Order: sequence, then C-alpha cells, then structure tokens
Amino acid sequence: MKKIFALLLVAMLALSCTAALAEKVGVSMPTKDLQRWNQDGAYMEEKLKEAGFEVELQFASNDVPTQLNQVETMIDNDCKVVVIAAIEGSSLGTALDKAAEKGVKVIAYDRLLMDSENVDYYATFDNYKVGTVQGTYVKDALDLDNAEGPFVMEITAGDPGDNNARYFYQGAIDVLKPYMDAGKITVPSGQTEFDQVATPTWKTDVAQKRAEDILTANYANGEKLDVWLCSNDSTALGVTNALEANYAGDGWPIITGQDCDIANTKNMIAGKQAMSVFKDTRTLAAQVVKMVGQILNGEEVDVNDTETYDNNKKVVPSFLCDPVFANAENYKEILIDSGYYTEDDLK
Ligand code: BGC
Repeated sequence: MKKIFALLLVAMLALSCTAALAEKVGVSMPTKDLQRWNQDGAYMEEKLKEAGFEVELQFASNDVPTQLNQVETMIDNDCKVVVIAAIEGSSLGTALDKAAEKGVKVIAYDRLLMDSENVDYYATFDNYKVGTVQGTYVKDALDLDNAEGPFVMEITAGDPGDNNARYFYQGAIDVLKPYMDAGKITVPSGQTEFDQVATPTWKTDVAQKRAEDILTANYANGEKLDVWLCSNDSTALGVTNALEANYAGDGWPIITGQDCDIANTKNMIAGKQAMSVFKDTRTLAAQVVKMVGQILNGEEVDVNDTETYDNNKKVVPSFLCDPVFANAENYKEILIDSGYYTEDDLK
C-alpha cells in the first residue's frame, strides 16, 4: 500500500513539473476580418495545445501598432517562440529586436517579416507557385497557344505591404506576359504594373471600388471582358460584386482566386468564379507546430528552401507547403472529402 502511495506521489509530482514546464508560444494573426486567419489561428492554437504547449493567440484588427504591441506583450509574457503573420512585413522591427535580446525565436507565418536580421524561420505556401497556378489556368482556359484572340483581361493584385502579394502577381504575370506582349491579351484599363493593380489591406470593398471604376471607364458600352485575374479570394469577391452590378458584355469572365474561402467556393459552384488555389491551413499549422517543437528541443529545424526568401537583411530558411488548384470540378474531393468543409458549410 505504502509503495502505491509513493508511486502516486511521484507520478503527481512528475505531472505538476511537466505542467509547470509547458512552454509558451505566442501566435500573432493579422485580423479576424478574413476567414483564413481565423482558421489559421484556430488550427495553430489547437495543434500547439495538443503538442503540450501553452498558447497566447492574438488577432490585431489589421492595425500595425496593435500587432506590434501584442507581439511585445507575448515576449514580456515569456513566450519562447513567437509565430507572426504580419499585417505589414517591415513594421515589427522593434518587437523582433526585443525577441532577439531575450532569446525568443521568431517564425514568420505565411507572410515574410522584412528588413530584420531577427527572423529565424519562415513557413508558408509556395507563393510564386500560387501565381503560376492562376496564370496557367488562364492560359489553358483560353487556349492561348492556339486561339486567335485577342482576349481582354483586367488584373487585381494584393496588398503592397504583404511580401506575398508580389510573388502571386509575378507568378501569374510571368505565365501571361508573353501573350500580353504579343497582343493576344489586351488590358483596356492600361493598368498592368503591380503598383497600379494592388489592393491595400486586401479588402473586398477596396477591390470592388477599383473594379467599378474600371468598368465605368472602359466597359460601359457592353464591351466584352474575358478574364479578371485576381490574386486571392477577398479581392475576387469585390471584383465579382462589381461585375454583377456593372458588366453588360457577352458571357461571364474567368475570375481567379486563392484560399477557397466559403463565399468564393460557393461562387465557384454557382459558376461565378472559375478557380481558386487551396492552401490547407491544417498543413501549414502542423508544419509550424513541428518547427516550434524542433526549436525548443534544440533539434534541426525542418526547412526545404534556403534560397528564395530574402527579407533585405538575410535569406530566411523556409518551409514551403504546396498549393493546390481548385475549381467546381474537384472541390468535393479536396475540400469536403478532406474534412476541410462540410456540405452544409457550402449551402
Ligand atoms: C495570404 C493569402 C491571403 C491574403 C489576404 C496573403 O498573405 O497568403 O492566402 O489571401 O494574404 O489575407
């Protein structure tokens, strides 16, 4: 009997020690406004807890000073690793310096943290590939190598403060540029450069307003539009809204996207958006949790790219997950069969 008590005591002591030792991880997400960051935050929290970590999760309402403050508080609260999806990649320098001083490791999540030495790792999807998937879809859908054209296109890209936005844009433009140069694709608004087509904060209403202006100026007399290349789903939604209210031309243009947000997946099913790019947040979260564990156990950290992501101070060792093409034909297989959404989510 005494032995059992002694064993119990040891077990309880061991348990309380493990609880006391549970290390804390900070997770800083940009906003709750967009579906994806809510999902990313939720998965990160769930998976980190499953792995035995304490979690401090914050959303920053797309406000840079709020995010700076939240990350500094995580460091003050003894987080050993902070995982940050930045609102604006270059604005968290003071927090990153503070992390380095206290030996706190920093993982840039999905979006690269720019202009700082104090970024240890980067985990994301292959952002350039997202763009090439979109561009290649347009190329194949219009059969650009064989069809005569010319085809008419407009372009909407992402937030200039988000390093990813240029990769998405460039990936798609690198596929389509030869056809634009050859006159097989025309852009009546004349807006083709990244800075002309960007959407600050990725907001749907900002993209919608610009699309309305373009439609009024260039398509008011029923002119046909074949494609609206959009870098992601929040901007695609704005463009779709603008087209629904203002497009009087023949047919319905191809609209591209990224993220497979619920509203956009519904639009794909309804034939309003041609495609999206699925980036399974569960895969990214699982990878980051693995990296956090490796950092805290002093193990070698799993990366698969040590060349691409230069943040102007250093090339940040990165792990790139694979983005997947999605449309109305394969959404069931990749979104429903995988348990990402239920049929009801998409009703
Ligand atoms: C992400 C995209 C997302 C966009 C807007 C980008 O950094 O990689 O998945 O659509 O931000 O939130």
